[in-house]
Amino acid sequence: MYRFGLIGYPVRQSFSPWIHEEFFKRTNQSGMYTLHELNPETTSFKDELDILKKELHGFNVTLPYKQVIIPYLDELDPAAQSIGAVNTVVEQNGQWKGYNTDGMGYIKSLKNDYPHLFSNRPLKTLIIGAGGAARGIYDALINNGFTYIDIANRTLEHGEQVAKLGGNNCSTNVFALTSLQDTIETYDLIIQTTSVGMVPNKDVIFPLRKVKEGCVVSDIVYQPIKTLFLQQAKASGACIHFGHKMLLYQAERAFHLWTNKEVVLTNMEHDLKELLEGR
Ligand code: ATR
Repeated sequence: MYRFGLIGYPVRQSFSPWIHEEFFKRTNQSGMYTLHELNPETTSFKDELDILKKELHGFNVTLPYKQVIIPYLDELDPAAQSIGAVNTVVEQNGQWKGYNTDGMGYIKSLKNDYPHLFSNRPLKTLIIGAGGAARGIYDALINNGFTYIDIANRTLEHGEQVAKLGGNNCSTNVFALTSLQDTIETYDLIIQTTSVGMVPNKDVIFPLRKVKEGCVVSDIVYQPIKTLFLQQAKASGACIHFGHKMLLYQAERAFHLWTNKEVVLTNMEHDLKELLEGR
């Protein structure tokens, strides 16, 4: 029987157990997925990790440990290495290897909904934010042939650090959020990667009043499902892309790394959305 889990703080409200238990059912395997809440102020990360490495066959990592975990692993996948953050840890012959499935999960969810974004090039893309999620998405977009990706962030320096990941493979301008108003109508794809707008906070990272015709606007926040940012995008005529889809597809990729099984995801996007909406 497989034993997987999630470590982070807080994780009590996580929907990952529901997702992975559904994956076990759909692949006819027995297994469990448990939550391990490690309060950084009261627990020793190393001691807890030593215990979990004995109990689990693999695990996901979330805030605030996506970078902290790196020195405790034996090996890193190249994408996790360049992104500098790990969200999935796999045990292979007694060695613990770190992966980052966020970017790939994001790309799969976007491709499912808007395949034309992957064939009609060149596109002008904007990433808002410069944290771990932005790094994963930026790296994955470049690996999928996107060559023009700007970054807007509150702290310019953080945006510039993300842009370094692209090297010569991508043209990237970095802006302060405050100077976005002048260029926002030029983008074909806008991706909001910060936690701004997540419950209980009802803010919006940037007021979207007008976007280019046909623009796709994506928000990785999934609680609420329809953030104020997505509501504004819709009102401006944009096509919208919801954050719970990235959650689902990063989990699918992690499950595949652990079990080598493909899951049929029929209706899962819809069921997860209803669960998040409390239906
Ligand atoms: P994650 O790893 O989940 O992406 P993170 O590393 O904390 O989270 O990244 C948070 C991102 O959200 C950063 O880009 C941060 O901006 P700064 O680089 O200026 O810190 C951005 N962010 C968080 N709260 C914000 C707020 N209230 N207004 C603007 N940007 C915010």
